Amino acid sequence: EDELMLRPQYLNQYIGQNDIKEMLSIYIQAAIKRSESLDHVLLYGAPGLGKTTLAQIIANELGVNIKITSGPAIEKTGDLAALLTSLQHGDVLFIDEIHRLPRFVEEVLYSAMEDYVLDIVLDKERDSRSIRIELPPFTLVGATTRFGDLSHPLRERFGAVFRLSYYTIDEIKQIVRRTSNVYQNKIDELAVDELSKRSRGTPRIANRLFRRVRDFAEIMTDGVITYDVTNLALTKLGIDQKGLDSSDYLYLKGMIERFNGGPVGLESIASTIGEEPGTIEDVFEPFLLQEGYIKRTPRGRVATEKAYELLGKKYYKGLLET
Ligand code: ADE
Repeated sequence: EDELMLRPQYLNQYIGQNDIKEMLSIYIQAAIKRSESLDHVLLYGAPGLGKTTLAQIIANELGVNIKITSGPAIEKTGDLAALLTSLQHGDVLFIDEIHRLPRFVEEVLYSAMEDYVLDIVLDKERDSRSIRIELPPFTLVGATTRFGDLSHPLRERFGAVFRLSYYTIDEIKQIVRRTSNVYQNKIDELAVDELSKRSRGTPRIANRLFRRVRDFAEIMTDGVITYDVTNLALTKLGIDQKGLDSSDYLYLKGMIERFNGGPVGLESIASTIGEEPGTIEDVFEPFLLQEGYIKRTPRGRVATEKAYELLGKKYYKGLLET
C-alpha cells in the first residue's frame, strides 16, 4: 500500500542522498530514544531534489504530525503564531523557501526555535507591551534553494544542515523503475536508461517526463514504454540527449554570441533570455555548473569549452589568454 504512493513515506524507501539518510536516521532514532523533539533541520539544494519529501519522511519516522507552509505565505507574525500554537508536542513545522520569510517574522522565530516561546508585541504604537506564549517542543524543518540568502542568526539555529545533491543516473533509474511500478506501466530497460539520462539528475523532472512519455506510449502504441517512444516524446518536448532544453540553449547561445562567452553578469543574461534572475540562478545555472558548461568567476559567468563544443562553435578563449 505504501509502495503504491509516488512519494516515498519512509527513509528506507527514499532513493539516493545516502549521507543525508544515514545522518538523519541516527538523529531521529536518538531523539525518539530520549523522547525529545528532533533538533531543527535545514535542507538546501536545487528545486525538485526532494526537500519536501524528506520533511514529510522526517515527520513519518518520528511518528508526529507535519504542518506545511512557505516563507512568502507567512506575512505577519500572527500567521506564524497561529501555526506554532497549533502544534502538538514533537510535531514538525515545514517552512519551504524559508529564505523568503519577512525579516520581522524571522526575528520572532528565533526565540521559538531556541526556547520554544513566542514573544508577541501587542500594541506597537502605544506602549509596546508584549506577551509571551509557551510553545510545545517542535522541530522546524526549513528548505531553501539559496543557503547564502539566509541570515546568520537563522542559520545558526538549525542543529543539522544538509545539502541535497543531484542524483546519479543509477539513482534516477531506480526512481524511474519505482515510478513505473506505482503507475503499473511496463517500461523497457533501454527506455529507463534514456529517460534517466535526460532528467538532469532530478527526481521531479524524471517523474514529470515519465508521465509525458507514458502519454505518448498509451496513445501511439500499446502502452509499453519503449526506447523509441521515449526518444520520440522527449525530442518533441525539446529535451536533448543530455537533458538540456531550449532555455539552456538560449542561455548558452546568448552568453557565447552576445557576450563573447563572458564574463557576464546575471542581470545581463537574464534580460537576454527573458527569465527572472532568481529563476536562472536557482533552476538553470546549478545544472549547467554541475555539468561544466559554465563557470562562475569573480567577474561573472563564463562559458566553458564544453559549451562551445555543444553549440558547434570554435573555442579560442584559452588560447588568447595564455
Ligand atoms: N520519488 C521522488 N524522489 C524520490 C526518491 N528520492 N526516492 C524514491 N522515490 C522518489
